Amino acid sequence: MINWEPNMSTGDDHTDAQHRALIEKFNELSEVFSGTNQAEMRRAAAELLDFLQFYAAWHFEQEEILMEQKRCPLAETNKAAHADFLQRFGDFYTRWQLTNMDINLARATYQSLADWIVNHILTIDVHLRDCL
Ligand SMILES: [Fe+2]
Ligand SMILES: [Fe+2]
Repeated sequence: MINWEPNMSTGDDHTDAQHRALIEKFNELSEVFSGTNQAEMRRAAAELLDFLQFYAAWHFEQEEILMEQKRCPLAETNKAAHADFLQRFGDFYTRWQLTNMDINLARATYQSLADWIVNHILTIDVHLRDCL
């Protein structure tokens, strides 16, 4: 379970709202893993993973445009980090399909992706604040 904390604020309301939405989806996914019905867990996880992949890509694009517009020094670093995340997500997604949606694989990957997002917001996205 991740909580949005004030130290995650980027100073941009839209970006912060998108981060909160991302965190909320990650938390929903985490809840799915505490279920007991395997088929239901697979179905719910598949739906959330599809949404997360789409939403993360969309959010990254919005944030990249904003950082470029504001001539943020970290714009390129941010962009490269986003590409890295999407690559990891893509690799996971392929394995998830190949393993017929192995819930343990999704659970393990969830943790590393959630950690990645929190760390990314705290170390890179928050620097948007200095450019606004
Ligand atoms: Fe970012
Ligand atoms: Fe972000």
